[in-house]
Amino acid sequence: MWDQRYSGENFVYGTEPNEFLVEQAYRIPQGSVLCLAEGEGRNAVYLAQKGYEVHAIDLSTIGRDKAMSLAEKTGTRIRYDVGDLTHLEIAPEHWSGIVSIFAHSPSALRRELHKKVVSGLQPGGVFILEAFSPNQLNSSGLGGPKDLDMLMSLLDLKQELAELDLLLARECLRPVNEGELHRGECSVIQLVGVKQG
Ligand SMILES: C[S@@+](CC[C@H](N)C(=O)[O-])C[C@H]1O[C@@H](n2cnc3c(N)ncnc32)[C@H](O)[C@@H]1O
Repeated sequence: MWDQRYSGENFVYGTEPNEFLVEQAYRIPQGSVLCLAEGEGRNAVYLAQKGYEVHAIDLSTIGRDKAMSLAEKTGTRIRYDVGDLTHLEIAPEHWSGIVSIFAHSPSALRRELHKKVVSGLQPGGVFILEAFSPNQLNSSGLGGPKDLDMLMSLLDLKQELAELDLLLARECLRPVNEGELHRGECSVIQLVGVKQG
């Protein structure tokens, strides 16, 4: 499905980075950042431009190819593996930052992934997440899975990420303008957590 979605020439979610990431990226200490479900590379390239060493992962080979060409065009370097988050191994205490932007998966997989995220951050490392909330099903905005199990509630995320200090954790309606498939007034969860030192 994702390869098919990414198969056109245009970047489905645009080439500009996610707005929440732009607002919060300054919190990530310099070093290496892991971008989960990175798609066509807009966020990875942005972080590479900020001087981070970026490693991205996503299921889509076409997403990877487009991300690599975006990196080349902008004179940045990123590492990008095609792979399934289900089998992702994250080395303990390795990452300065981990980024999850609209990275929706079934809740059982997400819970396992978030355990690995918590373990994979260095002390002082930062996790940044934006995702559609269950209320997105009733919003006028475009974007997000239609399956309730794949949407993220603030309560669930707070439980899954309880070991992080949450600098910010909120649900809000925000105008989204990130490519043709993410548009309009959307109901999102925004979260920034830091691993205790
Ligand atoms: C809505 S897109 C978001 C892409 C990117 N994070 C962005 O904001 O532009 C969701 C991405 O999740 C990826 N994805 C979905 N399930 C995945 C899984 N199990 N493992 C790896 N990637 C996955 C898809 O290939 C797709 O690129």
